[in-house]
Amino acid sequence: MTKKIIIANWKMNNSFDEAEIWLHNFSKKLPGIKENLEIVLCPSFILLDYLDGLLMDEELQRLQKLHGNIDELSEDELEKKIFNVRQIHLGGQDCHAEKNGAFTGDVSAIMLKDCGCEYVILGHCERRQYLNESDQLIAGKVSAAIDANLTPILCIGESKELRQNNSCLDFIGKQIENNIPVNLEIDNLIIAYEPVWSIGTGLVPTIKEIEEIAKFIKSKISANKNIKNFAILYGGSVKKENSAEILAINNIDGLLVGGASLKADEFFEIVKA
Ligand code: PGA
Repeated sequence: MTKKIIIANWKMNNSFDEAEIWLHNFSKKLPGIKENLEIVLCPSFILLDYLDGLLMDEELQRLQKLHGNIDELSEDELEKKIFNVRQIHLGGQDCHAEKNGAFTGDVSAIMLKDCGCEYVILGHCERRQYLNESDQLIAGKVSAAIDANLTPILCIGESKELRQNNSCLDFIGKQIENNIPVNLEIDNLIIAYEPVWSIGTGLVPTIKEIEEIAKFIKSKISANKNIKNFAILYGGSVKKENSAEILAINNIDGLLVGGASLKADEFFEIVKA
């Protein structure tokens, strides 16, 4: 993937009002930034459809300004056109491995697609840790995302102990093998390298450490001939002060941002980097 990808993971934050204000503040600055950038917003499930509506309206106004008369287009054509030029894309924070069924409280990949999502975060360490998500379960979710035509943002990363024991590469290699089903044909995949000890702590690996892991991930994923395109992101305590430096690391194609994505101004500074 040639574009840089910057993803905002809002986690369990932001009300409808807060989300609308965020979008308003962020969008008004967007025309000033470069085009070769993919911005993905991952809010809580309940905000997805609402934000999708706001983003479509905003683009409709932009399109009207650019092209004047768009009345001849059918509703479907118009929707497709708007979707293609949209600057902010949406992603879910998780999905279920099954298409539908008696799974109270869960959301399927197809439902995410229906809300305007193009991406879904899977295997985030908070879900691995607090909800005991296993590698097997995550592999099922990756399959479900691909079936629904969503790009999985697969999160992997080591604990502090593994880093101290020098066992990172082994662990990350196994996560990749176990979380990506062997024969699954994948057009687009995002791997987010997120060391568990770095998430929300203010601690960030050194440039050399990130570079080593990114190189390793690249070689591992490239060896899987079923994966056509992939991007490698870094996530964990990214903020405006360190984003440019991390983005410049070899084989790092973007960032996954948690805490610092909650303020539109700060997230914009990261995107600008
Ligand atoms: P953080 O979170 O940026 O707040 O460290 C990143 C993440 O959990 O994806």
